[in-house]
Amino acid sequence: MMLHVPDVLSPEQVSALRRRLDEADWVDGRQTVGDQGARVKRNRQLAEQSPVAQQLGQGILAALARNALFFSAALPLRFVPPLFNSYEGGEHYGLHVDGSVRALPGTQLQLRTDLSCTLFLTDPEDYDGGELEVVDTYGTHEVKLPAGDLILYPSSSLHRVHPVTRGARIASFFWVQSMVRDDRQRAMLFELDQTIQKLRARLGECEETVGLTGQYHNLLRMWSEV
Ligand code: NI
Repeated sequence: MMLHVPDVLSPEQVSALRRRLDEADWVDGRQTVGDQGARVKRNRQLAEQSPVAQQLGQGILAALARNALFFSAALPLRFVPPLFNSYEGGEHYGLHVDGSVRALPGTQLQLRTDLSCTLFLTDPEDYDGGELEVVDTYGTHEVKLPAGDLILYPSSSLHRVHPVTRGARIASFFWVQSMVRDDRQRAMLFELDQTIQKLRARLGECEETVGLTGQYHNLLRMWSEV
């Protein structure tokens, strides 16, 4: 399931973040990929250990913790701390798949990448190209969102970033290990949760919404690994 999560950051939050990023040191983006990715990746990133990246990343995770739509869709268990990338002057990232397991920096833990996230930090009118193209079982999708919006997609999908031919495309990207590993089960829980919320808005809390909420939690209990 792909999901557009709007307004993860406010325009003011995006501006503040961009000011910090404009002053930061950028390094070759091939630092964080394996051999296959390195052959097709042409962009720049903030270094993983950079205090600026760590601080800004914490701010993004705090914003996501308040976002009910993101929580409902991702059912997050663990996050790889957000990284930041920049594409300009024809930079791009060819077709690739994200690695399935990543070490969590500063810990002995590893994370299974169930979901990939891109949080756009540049408005689409400020650059040309730079579409994120994701290939899934329902075809090919091109994504280019307003600054502050996020796209969530299964990490198992092949994807690429088209060359940026004008301006610069700044974004944050990170991975989530979900409590629910299977994309279909997670999508069913999301649909059920969204439907319960609509019913509750229409009818108020009633015997039926309580019953369905119980079923939601019983399914989550059955399918989650925590
Ligand atoms: Ni990728």
